[in-house]
Amino acid sequence: MDQSGLKINPAISQILFTEDQIKNRIEEIASQINGDYKNKFPIFVGVLKGVFIFMADLLRKIEIDCDVDFLAISNYSNDARNRGVVRLVKDLDLSIEGRHVIFIEDVIDTGLTINYLLRNLRERNPASLKICTLFNRPSRRLIDLSIQYKGFDLEDKFIVGYGLDYHERFRNLPYVGIIKPEFFQRPSNGEINMKQGL
Ligand code: IMP
Ligand code: MG
Repeated sequence: MDQSGLKINPAISQILFTEDQIKNRIEEIASQINGDYKNKFPIFVGVLKGVFIFMADLLRKIEIDCDVDFLAISNYSNDARNRGVVRLVKDLDLSIEGRHVIFIEDVIDTGLTINYLLRNLRERNPASLKICTLFNRPSRRLIDLSIQYKGFDLEDKFIVGYGLDYHERFRNLPYVGIIKPEFFQRPSNGEINMKQGL
């Protein structure tokens, strides 16, 4: 337990963003979107799985009429050879042609994933396409992106919690934190592997 009585997962060394900090920031973003998209009937498109908690909290603060849909892509790989190579494992159910799309991401790191997905979505001729991300790591960006709605900037540290995973673990944490070094290792190819037996 920390001083506020919060039970911290034993694999987490530091909490970077508390539940309250995230909640407050999401309320600010939602109120911007509520103003910008009045009478525009936007469609929120989220990228599974990392975005599911952010999307659920953000959408409950959206007061305008809207649609919601999801894409699912293959897992994040830190392997340089595979960066930006994204496999669409679930496509949208709805058409976005002529619609105002707000594209929701959990983290934008190099920007390669979102770049691939934006190209795919633009081919479907939306009326507009804007980006909203909860976390942004500009230090590692490889693609020039303009992000309209942004929660927090991150340093070059891998984070988990609030939907974000490390090899599918820790998505359920209500806060965002850093994993203790002994819980993961980085071999020379940069791929992060969970130590066995955690
Ligand atoms: P990008 O293609 O390098 O921008 O990577 C974006 C994707 O990588 C995000 O949608 C996340 O799924 C994943 N990702 C990037 N950084 C982190 C992190 O710190 N923790 C967990 N997942 C991350
Ligand atoms: Mg993601």
